Amino acid sequence: MTYETILVEQRDAVTLITLNRPQALNALNSQVLVELSAAFAAFDADPSRHCAVVTGSEKAFAAGADIKEMADKPASDFFLEDFFSGWQSKVVATRKPWIAAVAGFALGGGCELAMMADFIIAADTAKFGQPEIKLGVAPGMGGSQRLTRAVGKAKAMEMCLTGRMMDAQEAERAGLVARIVPAADLIDDALKTAATIASMPPMAAMVNKEMVNIAFETGLAQGLLTERRLFQILTATEDKKEGMAAFVEKRPGVWKGR
Ligand code: HXC
Repeated sequence: MTYETILVEQRDAVTLITLNRPQALNALNSQVLVELSAAFAAFDADPSRHCAVVTGSEKAFAAGADIKEMADKPASDFFLEDFFSGWQSKVVATRKPWIAAVAGFALGGGCELAMMADFIIAADTAKFGQPEIKLGVAPGMGGSQRLTRAVGKAKAMEMCLTGRMMDAQEAERAGLVARIVPAADLIDDALKTAATIASMPPMAAMVNKEMVNIAFETGLAQGLLTERRLFQILTATEDKKEGMAAFVEKRPGVWKGR
């Protein structure tokens, strides 16, 4: 597929996806969403890629869903299309790990996209917010749910009700982002982190991702049981044999991905 609103580059085992609608601060219109879905599906299906980074520009990761596209759309269309449902479930279905590298504005749908990532690395310029209330609406692809799980009720409620932005420092203190780095180092840092993940045994990386995500979907007893079963399944892999042999023999492991 040829992309017009995103750039997709392969850096060894890492796929770098850059949102590229600078004239609209990377607002997520339907074309961006179709292209992003295709890029995620291609990444997940490509056996030579093991981690992805999604980023925007220095000024904006993404300033939200495209307000101009939504402005005249009738409510029946939002309902009948189940607006953003199909796209969101495709992104969340990505089985390989991916990182959101956020500089500048991550607002509305932009913040929601970042929160779909396995984790966020923020530039010191990052600003997160759910300002939908100012448009007479509310978050529609996870903002009220994922933000609340990430930062707790008090901050999530305040942000949704006032539309105020959280800067990178506050986002790190609140647990929304894994780390802050200087803006100039953001892409290098995210690519290095992704390369580290991509160098791990691939099935183990996918299972670790799945395990942590299960913590948000289920109760503790079921989560612990699922964790044990997934752990036990991983012990049957060739990469488990190799990883433990490599440790004992004091050499780096060479992964088969099975
Ligand atoms: C469409 C957008 C846009 C958006 C910015 N632009 N955000 N276009 N949708 N979400 C466009 C502007 O119209 C403008 O185009 C250009 O990008 C530059 O933006 P400016 O506003 O001139 O930049 P600046 O003054 O620096 O302000 C930056 C900003 C502001 C604070 C980020 O752009 C802003 O408040 N944007 C909207 C943020 C927002 O409300 N997001 C939530 C959207 S709703 P022109 O052509 O005028 O130069 C949402 C719902 C998700 O996400 C759930 C749905 C299911």
